Amino acid sequence: MTINEEVYQVLLDQVKMEAVSSASYLAIASWCDQNGYENSADFFYAQSDEERVHMLKIFHYISDMGGAAVSPTIPEMPSEYGSLREVFESALDMEIEVSDSINKIVNLCRKNNDFATESFMQWFVNEQVEEEYVARRAVELFDLFGSDPLSIMMIDERIPKINYTQTNGGTAE
Ligand SMILES: [Fe+2]
Repeated sequence: MTINEEVYQVLLDQVKMEAVSSASYLAIASWCDQNGYENSADFFYAQSDEERVHMLKIFHYISDMGGAAVSPTIPEMPSEYGSLREVFESALDMEIEVSDSINKIVNLCRKNNDFATESFMQWFVNEQVEEEYVARRAVELFDLFGSDPLSIMMIDERIPKINYTQTNGGTAE
């Protein structure tokens, strides 16, 4: 294995974190669907797919480095949520936790002079800027419009329009 044991362990943990995020977004998407928030449901289905792609990126990287990639155990996800605002707030909290975790991996790579993994993780650092931006914008809509039923339907209509554009004009994938 060309990565050290400590880096290997945190990458495995990150695989799990991405997989749990994917499962969590899928559970939220289902709840949105059942409650008639169609655009939010589409948003969370797409987020769930993205998180699975993130998981696979790290999974393949571990393999490519000669490590054993482990398919993680996923806990059961809740099926009930309090409100649409609550699900976006929990999405934002989750993304902040993911960003913290990725920053810790980069930090560990630096301590170990693991420049290859640090470079690999840079994509995730950039991706988290977008993920946090989108979730934060969604939560802000509730501050702007309030949480009465009509406002919530209006917010749901605005969800697909939230778009993160990097200052260089491109968008993160
Ligand atoms: Fe992710």
